[in-house]
Amino acid sequence: MSIPVVAIGSHQDDPLVALESRSGVVAVVRRCEELAELIAACQSGLARVAVVVGATADVTLTLADRLATSGVGLVCLTDDDGERRRLEALGLMTASESADVQHIGAVIADAAQAAGMPTDNSPSPSFSLPGARPSVFAKPVPGEQAPAGDEGKARGQVLAFWGPIGSPGRTTLALNVAAEMAASGRGVTVVDADTYGPSVAAHLGLLDESAGLAQACRLADQGMLTAENLERLAPAVVAGTGELRVLTGITRSDRWAELRAAAFGVVLDGCRALSDVVVVDAGFSVEADEEMAFDTVAPRRNATTLLALEVADRVVAVGAADAIGMPRLVRALNDLERSLPRVTPDVVFNKVRRASLGRFPERSLREAWDRFGPSRPIAALVPFEPETADAALFGGQMLLESAPDSSLRSAIREFACPSRQRNRRSAV
Ligand SMILES: Nc1ncnc2c1ncn2[C@@H]1O[C@H](COP(=O)(O)OP(=O)(O)OP(=O)(O)O)[C@@H](O)[C@H]1O
Ligand SMILES: [Mg+2]
Repeated sequence: MSIPVVAIGSHQDDPLVALESRSGVVAVVRRCEELAELIAACQSGLARVAVVVGATADVTLTLADRLATSGVGLVCLTDDDGERRRLEALGLMTASESADVQHIGAVIADAAQAAGMPTDNSPSPSFSLPGARPSVFAKPVPGEQAPAGDEGKARGQVLAFWGPIGSPGRTTLALNVAAEMAASGRGVTVVDADTYGPSVAAHLGLLDESAGLAQACRLADQGMLTAENLERLAPAVVAGTGELRVLTGITRSDRWAELRAAAFGVVLDGCRALSDVVVVDAGFSVEADEEMAFDTVAPRRNATTLLALEVADRVVAVGAADAIGMPRLVRALNDLERSLPRVTPDVVFNKVRRASLGRFPERSLREAWDRFGPSRPIAALVPFEPETADAALFGGQMLLESAPDSSLRSAIREFACPSRQRNRRSAV
């Protein structure tokens, strides 16, 4: 049976004509004028494979994922070697326009088969991640050699901070944990992936208009992200005795659609190559209902949060320690379990205070959590210290700089770099 194909960028004598008429391997069901038409045709279930002939400049990772979501493979035919390298770096199937038609037929057959196959990222019940792709970042990008001896380099760990709505202190904890780790000698990159209220730049006192993460995602989408331009987009910021690389978030929350999940995955991969630890401020929402409510290929606002939590080596769920924050955290953890059942976060309560928990706030909190919370231990309790937190925010500083002796800093430091580890290191 021939493979139904939609094509764009054709000319009279392109290889598809010969393939269709001579071998019958493919049946060209539609020739499209624009990418939007191609996408619509793929969504309608008309084709198994989309073929872009010649004009491949607009082909991105996002396009490939949109088609993959509709179960359609993508093949790009181009005689431009630079373009072919770019597309292959994105993990896409390519062939030369002037290649033997049998070879092109075989590539299209492979794409059709791959499109029908499940990916390594077996989808969780209510959220499906973009298809698994080879790490494009690890490959040399067009015109570039892989750095010698870089092949076996250890990849950084991803540590994601997440928690329910209500500003429980995700960004405060993410940044201060990152600063403590950097001060202890680790290379740390912070990524602001909050698509609702990005605030890493503000916490650090940066007058940032560059939206480093959006720029990195754009380059990743086009297969143009290199170690050099990622380093440029994530400049180092001094934090006490250490330095943090910072990939700032979108400058206006209505620009969330610039953070496409597939490209974001590549950026995270790049950050892993850059640092020992990648700290992600992941925002709050893990609702995947939009997949049911809208078109499945529409950009999804929560996809970056879901992706960060899915790929993270460790997820920290931050809740506010009061009568509103605790039930919210319980509900958020239930939502998380439904969306990403394999993720088991560490629970941290922030803003622990007597006024809302009584004379023995820590004991009351632990008892309440044991009774009402999911059976997951509390990994840390962080005290409420408004003056200390305000002063740090006002000065755009980390607590290790603005209030090194505060109990707020001590609690965060103990969580980031436990004293038994610190003591062991200083004894060496
Ligand atoms: N332990 C604390 N004690 C007192 N104030 C705190 C503490 N932790 C955070 N804050 C303050 O609470 C406010 C919100 O903190 P933060 O921005 O970290 O929350 P968030 O969960 O990231 O919120 P958002 O929903 O905006 O992302 C800030 O003013 C911060 O200084
Ligand atoms: Mg925040």
